[in-house]
Amino acid sequence: MAYKDLREFIDLLDRRGELRRISTPVDCSLEITEITDRVCKKYGPALLFENVIGHDTPVLTNAFGSAQRMAWALGAENLENIAAEIRTFLKVPFSALSSKLEMLKLMPLGKRLVDCFPRQVNNGPCKEVILKGEAVDLGKIPVLKCWPGDGGPFITLPLVFTKNPQTGKRNAGMYRLQVFDRNTTGMHWHLHHNGAENFRDHKALGRKIEVAVALGGDPALAYAATAPLPRDMDEMVFAGFLRKAPVNLVKCETVDLEVPADAEYILEGYVDPEELRLEGPFGDHTGYYSQAARYPVFHVTCITHRKNPVYPATIVGKPPMEDCYLGKATERLFLPLLQLHLPEIVDLNLPLEGVFHNCAIISIKKAYPAHAKKIMNAVWGMGQMMFTKMVIIVDEHVDVHDLSEVWWRVYNNIDAARDVVIMEGPLDALDHASPYAHFGAKMGIDATRAWRSEGYTRAWPEEITMSEEIKRRVDEKWEGLGIG
Ligand SMILES: Cc1cc2nc3c(=O)[nH]c(=O)nc-3n(C[C@H](O)[C@H](O)[C@H](O)COP(=O)(O)O)c2cc1C
Repeated sequence: MAYKDLREFIDLLDRRGELRRISTPVDCSLEITEITDRVCKKYGPALLFENVIGHDTPVLTNAFGSAQRMAWALGAENLENIAAEIRTFLKVPFSALSSKLEMLKLMPLGKRLVDCFPRQVNNGPCKEVILKGEAVDLGKIPVLKCWPGDGGPFITLPLVFTKNPQTGKRNAGMYRLQVFDRNTTGMHWHLHHNGAENFRDHKALGRKIEVAVALGGDPALAYAATAPLPRDMDEMVFAGFLRKAPVNLVKCETVDLEVPADAEYILEGYVDPEELRLEGPFGDHTGYYSQAARYPVFHVTCITHRKNPVYPATIVGKPPMEDCYLGKATERLFLPLLQLHLPEIVDLNLPLEGVFHNCAIISIKKAYPAHAKKIMNAVWGMGQMMFTKMVIIVDEHVDVHDLSEVWWRVYNNIDAARDVVIMEGPLDALDHASPYAHFGAKMGIDATRAWRSEGYTRAWPEEITMSEEIKRRVDEKWEGLGIG
């Protein structure tokens, strides 16, 4: 089921008892964070703050903040249902995703996929109010100052649209925007992300890069902007696939970009490659502040919005937080892609505490010596998984989602000299532990049973389990034991 816009999703959450409307006056500086943080830590509902001091606009937080709401956001009851569909989708040759014509050749699956392609419309609710020049004022939006040490207020759920100057291909990524004043923000696209690549390609040509930012719309669009898609895959096609309906895109007023017509707000403008400004600090996904650093500046030349907009925001910080569930969606939806390259992978867990890329626990069907090490190297060479600081490999029968079982295997199965791999390579821009920014060491732990062919010459002990016969007998007696 596709949501036409954010409001339809808010209504659904309301009907299903997963939204609290808050009418008490609250300050968008820190107070909304403290309330949202307490709710996140108790795995609570989405929050709609309807009385934000100094603003007429309501603020939505924690909309994605549970496994169930995350699935609903993508129009499903369960993320596994989407993963199953992705498995079917992956049978389509990748080259076919680049054109409608190629897709149509793959009927009838192609028909479903053709419907993923965005539809250009002439107008949309996101343009009900159009503000240009002096009328542009970011201060009118209830942007949150999230944490006490933050460098200012930050837009935290933006879909940042750019195009590559060579290929003309669109990219939508989620990169936070620190509001500097009424018409400029920071543009925090990390070095490794596609937005930054488009920026560098413009810089090489000596050109400014046009940027449009959407806030709101069908929540599948926001998820798609966070998804680690291959560079040339359009996030709006992926969003169309998730919502089973094309995304309506409308041309911007002042830049040559198309944006979701049903968004709440659109910010249009440009980034000049020659201009950098100090951005941050910001209380980040890791639960620590990311330090202030020089980042490009987004000049906002036009703001369009709906008549009574809702401002969507997220608070990131020490997990569990709302963003953890966006990470969990990626875990489920991208496992089929990982398995396409590495079919020996049985399951994957990106634990909440690892905040996306700091830990991946992977079970494998081990078939040859050093198989676990091959998987580690493959993970470190694959898209945004390259950032994974700790890769833990366990045997196929281990439940990767049972952390107690995983740690038991790790603590007891490894010989540090044989089973721990330290590898150097790129690290996520948010990593604060490595000696250099963007580069440092990662660790792989092979917690699979060691084989003779891997140099283990002793007899591997048998795991303790009760016999099936005794289990059955105790099952029969259990009620009568009065233990409960
Ligand atoms: C809430 C949230 C905030 C994020 N903020 C940033 C950010 O400020 N900068 C950044 O480069 N990536 C950020 N990310 C991660 C990117 O959105 C993600 O890696 C995405 O795949 C990048 O897309 P791209 O490769 O098309 O650039 C954020 C993710 C989430 C869920």
